Amino acid sequence: MLRSLLLTGFALVSLASAARETVEESIIHTRELIQYRGLGVGVLMSKYPEGAEDDTAGLPIGLQEYYAPYPESNGDILLLAMPVAKVFRNALPPNPPNMTLTVSDTYGFGDGNLAAGRMRVALFGSLERVTDVEESKKCRKAYLEAHPDATWAAGGPNEPHFAFFARLRIHKVFTFGGFGDKMQIMWHPIENYRAAGKKMRSKKEVLSDWPEPEQPEALTEAHFGESATKAERLVVQL
Ligand SMILES: *[C@@H]1O[C@H](CO)[C@@H](O)[C@H](O)[C@H]1NC(C)=O
Repeated sequence: MLRSLLLTGFALVSLASAARETVEESIIHTRELIQYRGLGVGVLMSKYPEGAEDDTAGLPIGLQEYYAPYPESNGDILLLAMPVAKVFRNALPPNPPNMTLTVSDTYGFGDGNLAAGRMRVALFGSLERVTDVEESKKCRKAYLEAHPDATWAAGGPNEPHFAFFARLRIHKVFTFGGFGDKMQIMWHPIENYRAAGKKMRSKKEVLSDWPEPEQPEALTEAHFGESATKAERLVVQL
């Protein structure tokens, strides 16, 4: 985080070319990121409650998790909750249901894109267990559409002790769009997050028309000049 803030600072002073993403675009990009570009994978976080074992009380834990858009919810998140997993148990009764899911842009790997410049978003929500059998079926369908490989785990309504579907009802949205001279870094009002659902473009459009992350070469040269050594560039990229 510190590194990306530093890089953002550099970018602010040294790059002043392409038009900056507007606030209105940022929230649409946020929804598109969650819908398409995150590929249904995020880092799900919770906090160990008071009295937790192993001196973990009060500490956050975040682990990679599959997610899908919650059916017909306009921006809530569907999770397959496994009570055996601490990250979920921390948010199950009697603990407060609050969880945070971060989703990152998965595109741009392989071309040397700076991870520091890629979009990511943090969704703050509360976990609600889906108990209705019909609703669980709907969830199972949506989940398996997003993650066909998850059939082994998505046992469905008959296996609620092993796993059950849950809705992460989103209350707060923080978007880190990328380098601050190009993208917004901000809290979005939840009403705007919901409203932007209707403005999302098609998956195809999103994948072909997305503010591309800066390439490392261009960035390091802009920051440090053409004389930047390979080693200095590495430091920036690490
Ligand atoms: C935490 O959970 C409570 C109970 O569901 C909810 O009212 C509150 O909005 C949540 N906080 C955030 C920031 O999501």
